[in-house]
Formats: sequence, C-alpha cells, structure tokens
Amino acid sequence: MAHRIAVIAGDGIGTEVMPEGLRALEAAAKRFDIALEFTTFEFGNCDYYLEHGKMMPDDWFEQLKDFDALFYGAVGWPDKVPDHISLWGSLLQFRRQFDQYINLRPCKLMPGIKSPLAGREPGDIDFYVVRENTEGEYSSIGGKMFEGTEREIVIQETVMSRTGVDRVLKYAFDLAQTRPRKKLTSATKSNGISITMPYWDERVLEMAKQYPEINVDKFHIDILTANFVLHPDWFDVVVGSNLFGDILSDLGPACTGTIGIAPSANINPEGKFPSLFEPVHGSAPDIAGKGIANPIGQIWSGAMMLEHLGYKEASDAMVAAIENVLSEGDQNVLTGDIGGKGTTKTLGEAIADAIAQ
Ligand code: NAD
Ligand code: IPM
Ligand code: MN
Repeated sequence: MAHRIAVIAGDGIGTEVMPEGLRALEAAAKRFDIALEFTTFEFGNCDYYLEHGKMMPDDWFEQLKDFDALFYGAVGWPDKVPDHISLWGSLLQFRRQFDQYINLRPCKLMPGIKSPLAGREPGDIDFYVVRENTEGEYSSIGGKMFEGTEREIVIQETVMSRTGVDRVLKYAFDLAQTRPRKKLTSATKSNGISITMPYWDERVLEMAKQYPEINVDKFHIDILTANFVLHPDWFDVVVGSNLFGDILSDLGPACTGTIGIAPSANINPEGKFPSLFEPVHGSAPDIAGKGIANPIGQIWSGAMMLEHLGYKEASDAMVAAIENVLSEGDQNVLTGDIGGKGTTKTLGEAIADAIAQ
C-alpha cells in the first residue's frame, strides 16, 4: 500500500523549494521501489487567510489526521498577515494537535560548504538539536491588563509539565545512546529563570540516572550560544525547551554555512498522529519569487520523512546525493547562499539526478 503524504507548500520560498523536495522524493521512491502518494492542500498559507479569514478550514484535523506524514514548506508573510496569526493558525496547530512533541534538527557541516567559523571542516560539526515542540515558552496562557494606559501590562506564561519535559528528555537520551560519543548537552537558564528552568535541570538529573553511560553536561543558554560558535565540536545531542531549541536550531545550521540546508522532523513518536517534515527556515520574503532559494533544507526534510516511514537506505541515499552534489561544488548548480550562481531548480535537479544515479 502506498504511503499517503499530505503536501502543504505554504508561503514565499515554501512554494519554490517544495517542488524540488518532491522531485527528490520521487527519484528516491523510484530507485528504492517505494510507493508514495502525494496529496496537495491549498490551505495553510497567507493567501488562504486573505480569502477565508483563517489559515485553514475548520475540518483540517479530520482532513489530515489519517495521512502517514505531512510534508510542509514554510509559512508566514508578515506584510499580509501578522506572523503570530499565520503561525498559530497553521504550523503551531499541527505541532500541538498532532502531538508532535519532538522537533529533531540535525546540524552538520557538509563537504564542499565553507563554515563561517574559521578552520572548521566536515566532521567538526555534527550534532542534533532536540527541541521540545508542544509547550514551554510557546504557551497561549497570559493576557493584557490596563490596555491602552500607562499601566499596561502583558504577561505570557511558560508551561512545563512533567510529562512534557520527561518525554523530550527521554527521546534525547535515547538518541544520544545510539551515537558513538554518547554525549548529551542540556540548554538551561536556571540562574535567571528561577522556577521552570531549575525544574528542567532537575528532570535532566533524574533522567540521567537511567542512562549511566551517557556523558551529560549543561550550559546556560547565553554561554551555550557562544560555545556553538567557539567549540561546535563539543556537541553531539543538544536538548532544549521550545524557545531555546528554536534559537539553537538557527544558530547551529548558520555555523554549518547556511540555514538553507537545515531540515527538521516534527515527530509524534507514538505514531498516533502524522509527523511533519519541513525545512528549519521560513518563507524568506527577501528572496521569494526569484527562484534562488536553497532547496536542500526541503530535500533533506524529505529524507528524514523516508527514514521515519522505515526507509533508512533510501533516506541515506538522499543525504549522500546532497553531499555528492555539494562536494562537486559546481558554481552553476549551487545556490547563492552557498557560494554558487545557480537556482533552486538547478540544485534540485542535480540532487534528484544524483539520487536516481
Ligand atoms: P527566514 O528563515 O524566512 O529567513 C531568514 C534569512 O535566511 C533571510 O535572509 C532568507 O533569505 C534566508 N534564507 C532562508 N531560507 C533560505 C533558503 N532556503 N535559501 C537561501 N536563503 C534562505 O526567517 P524570517 O525572515 O525570520 O521569517 C520570514 C517569515 O517566515 C516570517 O513570516 C516567519 O514567521 C516565517 N517563518 C516560518 C517558519 C516555518 O514555516 N517553519 C520558520 C521560520 C520563519
Ligand atoms: C521554526 C519557526 C517557528 C517556531 C515560528 C515560525 C513560529 O521559527 O519552526 O523554527 O518558532 O517554531
Ligand atoms: Mn525557528
């Protein structure tokens, strides 16, 4: 039976990198004899909002819940719709309603790409950010008081539940267990954020008792960001709350040359709901419409989706194809963010050809 994939391109460069993601997946499906059935949805973008006054139809959950996976581009176009409305009306709903509580984001310096960090070679930067994806600082609890007066106050709560914290920590420790270095770094800020962050630290210590072979350390988020730049080779699996994980997963890929290549998997590990695969980057209004966005984040997200669906070999072949095309370093193929003069399409086609062999 074919795997049913829901495709939502979103806004801006989401609509430009998506065709390349699909091209690569189709090449992998053909080579490895995998049956994938793609169904495209026209909602979950800001033009849909302008027409309907909402980002998605009321029955979006029913429409999507039985798919095997969701393949997303990027959403947001702040000139049309305020970001918090477009994002809370689409992507953040998927993460929450489909209980995709893991956001797995690899950061890897690829061959042929120059790191902005002096002297770093492929192999020096190769770690995962495991981001809590359904609670933490991204909560809707709070409000405004004395609005419009000088006494105006806005409050937004951070929510950490024991279940929510423990399940992301468990995932991160399990992941560290599969890695040769068996190292886990926790992102904290328990010196300043005096209730939720000490709680996070406590749960890390508690979880660590069950994983005696894992080497655990922690850094406050301020020095952790500095260490990403100064010592990216220290890291193997980095686990953080929703906001810290968000920040680290743009910084990590930036250290590997560009956020244009960074993939992510929003996972519901129990498989009760579909998981969602999307690049880390957004809709990039500054370059949208020019056909120059790097499609690798989207393609690599497709590779993560195939791994999730049980096709490790096909997934590895997709990543190897990305690495091969990057190593060749053809200026006419690579996009501008990685030093080339090519387009979304030249790079996407080269990778699809490399997958097909
Ligand atoms: P962004 O990731 O869209 O862009 C940041 C910078 O990186 C821009 O200069 C952009 O040109 C560049 N960039 C991003 N992806 C690239 C690619 N594939 N190739 C080459 N260059 C690339 O972040 P932003 O500007 O903060 O946000 C723009 C919009 O996207 C906002 O509406 C924001 O809310 C939304 N957003 C959505 C997601 C998502 O859908 N997951 C993620 C981040 C931001
Ligand atoms: C991401 C994005 C989203 C997030 C935004 C667009 C809400 O930055 O996927 O990293 O903060 O989770
Ligand atoms: Mn982000």
